[in-house]
Parts: sequence; C-alpha cells; structure tokens
Amino acid sequence: MAEFLGNLKRTKYCGQIRESEIGQQLTVMGWVAKRRNLGSLVFVDLRDRTGIIQVVFDQSETSEENFAKAESIRSEYVLAVVGKLRQRQSINPNIPTGTVELVASEFKILSDAETTPFVIDENSTASEALRLKYRYLDLRNASYQERFKLRSDVCRIIRNYMCENDFLEIETPFLGKSTPEGARDYLVPSRVHPGSFYALPQSPQLYKQLLMISGFDRYFQIARCFRDEDLRANRQPEFTQVDMEMSFVDSEEDVMAIAEGLIRKVFKETINYELPENIRRMTWQEAMDRFGSDKPDTRFGLELVNVSDIVKDCSFQVFTNTVANGGSVRLINAKGFASKLSRRDIDALGEFVKTYRAKGLAWMALKEEGLQSPIAKFLSEETVNSILGRANAEKGDILFFVADKNETVYASLGALRLHLAEKAGLINHDEYDILWVTQFPMLEWDEEENRPVAVHHPFTSPNTEDYQAGLLDTAPLSVRAKAYDLVINGQEAGGGSIRIHSRDMQKKMFNVLGFTDEQIEERFGFFVNAFNYGTPPHGGLAFGLDRLVMLLSKTDNIKDVIAFPKVQNASDLMTEAPAPVEEKQLRELCINVDEQ
Ligand code: AMO
Ligand code: AMP
Repeated sequence: MAEFLGNLKRTKYCGQIRESEIGQQLTVMGWVAKRRNLGSLVFVDLRDRTGIIQVVFDQSETSEENFAKAESIRSEYVLAVVGKLRQRQSINPNIPTGTVELVASEFKILSDAETTPFVIDENSTASEALRLKYRYLDLRNASYQERFKLRSDVCRIIRNYMCENDFLEIETPFLGKSTPEGARDYLVPSRVHPGSFYALPQSPQLYKQLLMISGFDRYFQIARCFRDEDLRANRQPEFTQVDMEMSFVDSEEDVMAIAEGLIRKVFKETINYELPENIRRMTWQEAMDRFGSDKPDTRFGLELVNVSDIVKDCSFQVFTNTVANGGSVRLINAKGFASKLSRRDIDALGEFVKTYRAKGLAWMALKEEGLQSPIAKFLSEETVNSILGRANAEKGDILFFVADKNETVYASLGALRLHLAEKAGLINHDEYDILWVTQFPMLEWDEEENRPVAVHHPFTSPNTEDYQAGLLDTAPLSVRAKAYDLVINGQEAGGGSIRIHSRDMQKKMFNVLGFTDEQIEERFGFFVNAFNYGTPPHGGLAFGLDRLVMLLSKTDNIKDVIAFPKVQNASDLMTEAPAPVEEKQLRELCINVDEQ
C-alpha cells in the first residue's frame, strides 16, 4: 500500500550528504537501489538523481511494526526516510557518501515496485531493445542522470551567453513549409485543407532570416529539428539545434567569433576544459587534400599524399587512366604498419575501401626483406623512389593507394585513415581537437538531377572575390561559399554561413541552380518577396546540441544524450511510434492508406 508524504519534506538529496552533517536529522527520498537483510538490520542503498546514501533500519531502534515494514522493502520501491546521520563502519571509497549512513527513525513506502524487467545497473547485460522499451527505468542509472544534468547546464549557459550578447530568444513554427536543408521532410496532413501538408522544420533557416528582415537584429533559439534521413551513431530524426542569426555582418569572422565565445564558455563551465583562445581555421580544400574529409579528425597523422604527378606516365594503367581522366592517385603512409598487417588484413582493407566506392586498394610495403607490392612491377625504380620520398616512407611503413575521381579518393582514404587510427589506438581521447573548416564550395554536381545543387543551402553567400570575378557564370563549381563548419574530434558540431541579402545575387544563384521563376515563386515566394522590403546583411550558424553534449560527456552514441530516442528504423520502442491510427482520423484527413 502506497503511503502519502503527509508532512514529510525532503531536506537533502541523497548524493549530497557529507560527513559534516553527522549527528543531524535529515529527510531523504528516492528509490531502493539495493537492499540487504542481515537479521536485526536492514540496509538499503537509496538512490535519487544526485547519487546514493546508505540507510539502516535497526530492529533495536524502531517499533516491531516499522521493522516488519522495513523487511518488506524491495528493489525500486520509493521511500521517504527520516533519520540521523552517523559514521559508517565499512567505508565505501567509491561513492562521495561512502563514509556515512542514515539511521532511519521514521519512513514511508511511497510506492512499491514490481521486479523490473532488468536490473537497474550501468553494466546491465540486458539488450538495448529491452532497455529502450523501458527507457524510463534505464534513465534511472547515474550515467544518464549525469548526462541530462550536463545537457540542462549546457542549455542554461547558452541562454545566458546569448542573452548577454543581445540575442533575443524567439520561437518559430513547427507547422510550416518545407525548408531547403536537403533531407526528406516529415509531413503533417492538414484536416482543413485536404491534400495539403505542413512540413516539420529541418531547421528554422527561413524563419530566422525573416526575423532579420523584421529588424530583431540578433536571434537565437534552442530549436527542435526534424529530418527524415538514415540514422547513424550521431544522427537522430529529431534533434536539437542551437540556432542563431545576426544582422549587419558580412564577414564569416563576425559569426565565428560569437560562436567561438559560446563554445569556449560551454566547455569551460561544464567540464572545466580550456579550448584554445584562437580556434584554428582550415580551408575546405586543405581539409580534403590532407584528411580526405570536410570534418577532419586531426588528432593523428596518416595524412593523404597526392602522387598523381609522379605516376601519371607509369605503366600501371589504372593510375595513368585515372590521372588522364581528371582523377587523382593518392596514398596514406601507414607508419609502422607493414609488419602488423597480414595479407588477409590487407585484403580486408581492400574490401573496406570498396564500401566507399573505391575500385581497389594498391599497396607498397617496406618490409625488412625489401619492398613488397603488387604494383611495383609497373613502376620504375625512379617512380618508386619518388613516391617513397614524397610519402616520407621508412622501413616498416606500408603505403595504401587509391586511384579514382577525387570525390571517391577522398571518401575512401578519409575513411581508411580513421579505420587504421582506431585499429592502432592512435587517438588520444583526453584532448579535444577543434577547428573551423572554411571556404566550402558553393555548389556540387548532382548526378541524379544532372545539375549543380547548393552544398549548404541556396541562401548562402558566395565568396565576394569569386562572385566579383564572375565565376558563377564561368566556373560555378569552383565558387567558394561564405560557409563554415565547426569540427570537434572529427564530428561536425555546427555550421552556418553568411547569407545572400541582395535580390540580384539571389536571383543569379537560383538561375545557376536551374530553378525557373515559377519554381522559385512556388517554393520560396514568400521568402524571396521579403527581400524586396529592406534586408540587412546577415549571417548565422547552428550547433547540434545533441552532438555537443555527446562530445562533452565523451559518449559516441547520440541516444545517450536524448531522453527518448529513436532506433535505426526511426521507431520508438517504448511508445511504439509510429503507429497506425483510427480509420476515423484518416477519414477526417481525407487520407487513403494504400498498403503495398
Ligand atoms: P546543418 O544542416 O549543418 O545547418 O545543421 C547544423 C548542425 O545540426 C547538427 N545536425 C544533427 N544532429 C543530430 N542529428 C541530425 N540528424 C543532425 N543534422 C544536423 C549538426 C550540424 O552541424 N540552417 C543551417 C544552419 C545555418 O546555416 O545557420 C543548418 O541546419 O551538428
Ligand atoms: P590488378 O592489376 O587489377 O589486380 O590491380 C593491382 C592492384 O591494384 C590490386 O592491389 C588492386 O587492389 C589495386 N587497384 C585496382 N584498382 C585500383 C584503384 N582504382 N586504385 C587503387 N588501387 C587499385
């Protein structure tokens, strides 16, 4: 039978009790994490969001009725306990309250509990599916409680910083029109407009730009975003952005400075980590050339080396044809790996790069007994020596080559680099590696659509020099954007851009993207029209809040920092969403489900 609190008031959180309170009477409330019955004594570890305190029920110090009630306590019962704090006999050095215990003088069982489907323990061997089904139980574990405290702290620090810097917190609609971030939209059918749909925002991009036109000058929002895309370890279909936009700026540096100040403050005030005063900048081109990635993990070497010029006339046709067709031949020098990798390992790496569309993985190993390589027979001694020289190769090293169009070379060697570093334990997990990647390309070629598409979004401003040089007409794919990403430990933690604020430039951009006037009007008419009435130069950025909290709490799974996450197939195992709805609801929405 559940008892009521009555006049009991909590005076202390369990995990915050300290030796200095010995002798005092305290009232605590929480869940039974563990219970041991030693005949005349019952010990209970009582847990709340701050930690655990040991509670003792002593037969000699309480009524018979009370002790019988204490004996009935089981795991996960909810208790309120009044007691006096005393020194503990057997000290537990692993918890901050390990030297004290509370001797219960009065207590109430506020709720009993059935046996839980799994033991609530950090090291539970229960399957992830079971733990997600009973997510509210798994969340009782200390690591979750700590991460959500951290997440809440991060939000508070962000709000303080943004407000101190004159940003206004403004909410924008969930029920809106499709935004141009490039993922698939989640649609919401309209009952009053049969056949019409709202789109849940992929980001508040258009609204925040409109707020600049409204004159709010500086906006921010901790905003939920929705993207119907494949889930990954750092991607959820609904996630949270720390979104911001500011007016009267046209240099990337203006936005980056505000964002840097924020990120430095968050790291300092949550985990007491000092990020560098000046966060490094690296152009997109350099990031691709050296690391094969626009979110380079620069905590270790294994950099890409371009040898296209050296091999362009050799007799290995794969190499020569690739260079002749505008592709490149690049390598990674896996330092000291030659003796660590068997032939089978090397074959497995060949299969690994194929998942990134590479056609093969050529290699050259500098073994004790000499050079080994399936491609050496095609290369002159001079070519081999030039390659080894450029790669700084020494005995014990093995070089891995990919020849292909640049995009594939970057993707496959970039991934191979990370794979080798993880395998060899080259990554220092104590440090944070943080840098800005700048000067992204404005456009990329979309094979499917057979036209250029915006890398960031169509409202991003081109680099002023490139624009003035007329490159949008003569070489659109080489135009750089005023766009920037903040990369932390090889993850894209945030990104943004300076926006186009001139009507002419926006029109030009739409033309290059191949939009007709009708398409522009239909998709973004409301937005483009707004530019007719006075638009300040503006720019902004959004951080991925979930990713930031992941990085701060050193977890590599985004589910660890989202209270009720979705699994791989975008379903929620606890609520079983998405779920069928009543026939009546569908009729109201004029929806006919065509099950295939
Ligand atoms: P972008 O699309 O780069 O930019 O998103 C900004 C940041 O949001 C995070 N993020 C995600 N986090 C978890 N799950 C996802 N599915 C997911 N997708 C993105 C990333 C990313 O850096 N409107 C622009 C911002 C701007 O230009 O101001 C935008 O949305 O950390
Ligand atoms: P082959 O002569 O086709 O057996 O190839 C010889 C070596 O070159 C093998 O180790 C292949 O994996 C490798 N190879 C084939 N195509 C490529 C490519 N596009 N880039 C790098 N290596 C390749």
